[in-house]
Amino acid sequence: MSLKKIIAAAIVSSSAIIAGTASAQTIGFSQVGSEGDWRPAFSANMQETASDYGVDLKFANAQGKQEEQLRAVRAFIAQGVDAIIIAPVVVTGWDQVLQEAKEAEIPVFLVDRDVDVEDKSLYVTRISADFNLEGRLAGAWLAAESLGDCKIVELQGTTGSAPAIERNGGFQAVIDQFPAMEIVATQSGDFTTEGGKRVMEAFIKSTNNLEGICASFAHNDNMQLGAIQAMKEAGLNPGEDVLMVSVDYVPAIMDAIAAGDANASVELRSAVGEFIYPVILDYLENPRELDKWIVIPSDLHTAN
Ligand code: AHR
Repeated sequence: MSLKKIIAAAIVSSSAIIAGTASAQTIGFSQVGSEGDWRPAFSANMQETASDYGVDLKFANAQGKQEEQLRAVRAFIAQGVDAIIIAPVVVTGWDQVLQEAKEAEIPVFLVDRDVDVEDKSLYVTRISADFNLEGRLAGAWLAAESLGDCKIVELQGTTGSAPAIERNGGFQAVIDQFPAMEIVATQSGDFTTEGGKRVMEAFIKSTNNLEGICASFAHNDNMQLGAIQAMKEAGLNPGEDVLMVSVDYVPAIMDAIAAGDANASVELRSAVGEFIYPVILDYLENPRELDKWIVIPSDLHTAN
């Protein structure tokens, strides 16, 4: 356990003892699914670090289906957990179930992805990276590399999900500053390697072997890894003929960058239990209004 975590756990447990409530907190976590490499690493971190904070974590994998998430959240409410964590598949469709949690007086914390609800009091806070910033970092890197002249193909994440909406928004906001930068084709690969391969195969066909295309922007590394496979199978040279920039910075993209098949990736941290649990436990000890967004930093990584 890191020093930071030991201190956080000590603060939480000592205040719990002072308050006479040293028992473990039961927290339900409704996770999106297990797509790609980043999400399983995030799930593992949340499960492995829960006991460091005295949390009894009830983990529910929604396999990418919002209806599964709604079912899981309602089950957590029925069990009377102390708090609920949701990483929402998509941004819409949350008002009713969040209202039910509020009526049951169970605080809800969003992690990773956002929701689009009118009444922000339905959740305590969102603890996550800034996906719009990730898109801007990718766009700014590409603008510098291409000297502001670049036709781009975009592999989007799951339609309607916060990272797909916000990464596209941030990226587009940067390239809009450069008249010769343009997204010429965009399609969802659903954040998977297979999806990325399928989408890049379609782009290769529709653009006559990526003729005139200078970059591939993928909303996550796994789609970019699928795109790299498709390009190699078509006899193209990803990382050389086409600049490859994506998000997550998982080990497989680090290898691809080292091999010259990819050029840049914006890191989305997966070991974030140390950010999330202290916020929730502190809130449970001392419920109050928190900022609606607690931001986890993001950094861009390149080959040099
Ligand atoms: O919500 C974060 C995104 O979801 C990650 O970038 C992607 O890999 C995952 O599927």
